[in-house]
Amino acid sequence: MQILEEHFISEILPKRKEDSHKGTYGKCLMIGGSARMHGAITLCAKAALRSGIGTLTLFVPSCIREIISMKLDEAMLIPAPCNEEGYFSLEATSLLEKELSQFEFVVIGNGIGRGIGARKLLETVLFSHLPCIIDGDALYLLKDYKHLLHRDAAVLLTPHPKELSYLSAYPLEEIKIHREQILAAFCETYPNVCIIAKDAKTMIAYQKDFFLNVIGNHGLAKGGSGDVLCGICAGLYGQGKDMKTSAICGVYVHAKAADLLKESMSCTSMLPSDVIEKLSDVFCLLEKREN
Ligand code: APR
Ligand code: MG
Repeated sequence: MQILEEHFISEILPKRKEDSHKGTYGKCLMIGGSARMHGAITLCAKAALRSGIGTLTLFVPSCIREIISMKLDEAMLIPAPCNEEGYFSLEATSLLEKELSQFEFVVIGNGIGRGIGARKLLETVLFSHLPCIIDGDALYLLKDYKHLLHRDAAVLLTPHPKELSYLSAYPLEEIKIHREQILAAFCETYPNVCIIAKDAKTMIAYQKDFFLNVIGNHGLAKGGSGDVLCGICAGLYGQGKDMKTSAICGVYVHAKAADLLKESMSCTSMLPSDVIEKLSDVFCLLEKREN
């Protein structure tokens, strides 16, 4: 088990080049959102944009297209069919099938809900050959599609303890005590899957490699923090195209932003959107160390 330290993160953080363009840094499709949870995908998108993604397109239920466009200037939008409750409907699947091949990787799950529309979108993504990051409600839906994790393209899962319990079928108490062993068994079964097991001390597992993050603070214990972490990992993956490195750096950067915020802000008041605003300071710090 390797403890994450700043100099190590500085070394492995994806490097940008002068001689580059937006295509160099990843073409990401982010699938999620619903009338009840449009903030989740917005936070995820903003975090990806602040973490270096080349181009970002959001695939969202059409009923939230306006609110999303008001909040995000840099992302493109694909509005998809939705039902009366404001979640994806089944018809969204054929639209995704048409659009998917233009993208290099996918993020799915933030604010998506657990309906049949979301379920079919997840299935479509898993059947594709694209690397993907799976978060939020898509982790619940994944339980029925675990066999599809035996795929060639990389997968990153970002469960909190309850999601990991559901996914691994171990009770929450077992997860708390035997997290490493449970992750090891999962990684042995699914060698192309990297897992970020989120908690106050987050663990990252990939094949036989284990990493532990010991920085960060309870200012992150707020709804929306997980969406920000997911977006950071997406931004880093777009730049580096390696899931394990993106996961390790993403967890550290997220926690470091919260620690920098703590210098000038109470953990009580700290918001996930403040964490996004602090990302630039974290990248300045980590990039300088390397230079
Ligand atoms: N110390 C350090 N980090 C923490 C702490 C803490 N005390 N508490 C939480 N965190 C970090 C976690 O490590 C993780 O990165 O904050 C993030 C929380 O992520 P999630 O639990 O996924 O939270 P989020 O998705 O933002 O909000 C809850 O998850 O259960 C679902 O659908 C539910 O909408 C809800 C959402
Ligand atoms: Mg979450």
